[in-house]
Amino acid sequence: MNNQPDNSKTPLAQEGENRQAWYRRLFGAPKNNEETSSIQELDPNLMPRHVAIIMDGNGRWAKRRNLPRSAGHKAGTEALRAIIKESDALGIEALTIYAFSTENWLRPKEEVGALMGLLLQYFASEIDELHRKRVCIRILGDVEGLPEAQRRAVLNAMERTRANDGLKLNIALNYGGRAEILRAAKAMAERAKKEGIALENMTEADFERELYTAGLPDVDLLIRTSGEMRLSNFLPWQTSYAEMIFNDTLWPDYDEKEFRADILRYMKRDRRFGKV
Ligand code: FPP
Repeated sequence: MNNQPDNSKTPLAQEGENRQAWYRRLFGAPKNNEETSSIQELDPNLMPRHVAIIMDGNGRWAKRRNLPRSAGHKAGTEALRAIIKESDALGIEALTIYAFSTENWLRPKEEVGALMGLLLQYFASEIDELHRKRVCIRILGDVEGLPEAQRRAVLNAMERTRANDGLKLNIALNYGGRAEILRAAKAMAERAKKEGIALENMTEADFERELYTAGLPDVDLLIRTSGEMRLSNFLPWQTSYAEMIFNDTLWPDYDEKEFRADILRYMKRDRRFGKV
C-alpha cells in the first residue's frame, strides 16, 4: 500500500477497466507494438500527481554538434513540448519545469538573451494550443524581475489560462528555492502580525499557502536529465518526499518513451513517507 499519493484528481482507470482499455481511452488506438508495451506497463492507479523536471544538458547537446548553446535551448523547447503533451495524455495533475533560475542571469549575455527570446517565442507559439487543451499555466518565481516583454507575456498566459481545469503547468522562471522559502516566511510573519496570530501557532499549511506552489500537491517525482545529481535550488520544500530519478539523457534527446520509462521506475519504488 505504499507509493500511493492521493490520486483522486487524476483520470484513473474506471472501475472494471483494464490497463489496455484505460490507455485506449486516453490515447486512442496504439501506434505500434513497442509503444503499446511501454505504455501498458504503467499502472494508472500509481500515476504521480506532481512531476518536476530539471531540464539539464542543452549546452552539452549543442557542443557535441558544434552548435551554439542557444541551439541546445531551442532543441530543448521541442523536447519540452513533447513532455507536456505526454503529461497531459497520462493525466498527470501537475508538471513543474525549471526554465530559468535566479543564478542563470550570471550566464553570458548572449545566452541569457537567447533564453529570454525563446521564452517570448514559446508563449507566442504555444499559448493557443495549451489553452485549447485546458492547460493552466502558473509561473513560479519573481515575475517582477523579468524584462518588460517577458513579464507581459507570462502574465498574459497566466491570466488567459487561469480558469482551465487540465494539466497544471508550472514554469519556474527567475526562480530560486531559498528565496521562495524566505519570501514565504516573511509573508507568513506579516500575516500573523496583521491578523493577531501568535507565530508559534502558525502551521506548515500556513507556510505553504505563501509559496508559489500554494494549493498544489507535493512533488511525487523529480527527474533531472544529463547525469547531474543535484537539486540546484529547485523546489527544496516541495520535494521533501519526492522520489528522484537522474537520467543520463541530455534534455533535447529526452522523449515520451524515456519519460514513460522514468514514470515506470517511479511506480516500482517503495514510498514510505518516514513510516516502515
Ligand atoms: C539547462 O541546460 C537548461 C536551462 C538552463 C534552460 C532550460 C530551458 C529550456 C529547455 C527552453 C526554454 C524554456 C521555455 C519554457 C521556453 P544547460 O544549459 O545548463 O546544459 P549544460 O549543463 O549541458 O550546459
